[in-house]
Amino acid sequence: MNSKKLIDEAIKAMENSYSPYSRFKVGAALLCGNGRIYSGCNIENAAFPAGICAERTAFFKAVSEGNTDFKAIAVVGGNSGNIKSFCYPCGICRQVFSEFCGSDFKIILFDGESIKELSLKELLPFGFGSENLC
Ligand code: THU
Repeated sequence: MNSKKLIDEAIKAMENSYSPYSRFKVGAALLCGNGRIYSGCNIENAAFPAGICAERTAFFKAVSEGNTDFKAIAVVGGNSGNIKSFCYPCGICRQVFSEFCGSDFKIILFDGESIKELSLKELLPFGFGSENLC
């Protein structure tokens, strides 16, 4: 699976974004170890905190279907769906990534022209995990 293919899936997922409040559309495509791809979009709500990011939509779809082995996620976003800059995952999404993924999990971003790839270690250094609960 190459990065561009995963980005294309994320762009497709962005079309379903339900974001009447922010108008900021986000799409994500999550690649599993078995090759399956789960897509997700952001889904907002009139009661703002009830909304969810595209990345977590994709993760929770996968986990709810029994998939917890993840290789990479592509994320794109922009005002009214215009991709003009990298859409970095929010802090809560980074925390969800770290619950299921190792430090080499890949985050693939696209700003409309170039691709940026980061590891989870780069995106969330010094994270809090289950090992801290002991
Ligand atoms: N959003 C995401 O879907 N993913 C992120 O990582 C950042 C923000 C969404 C949430 C909200 O619907 C909109 O973008 C504006 O914050």
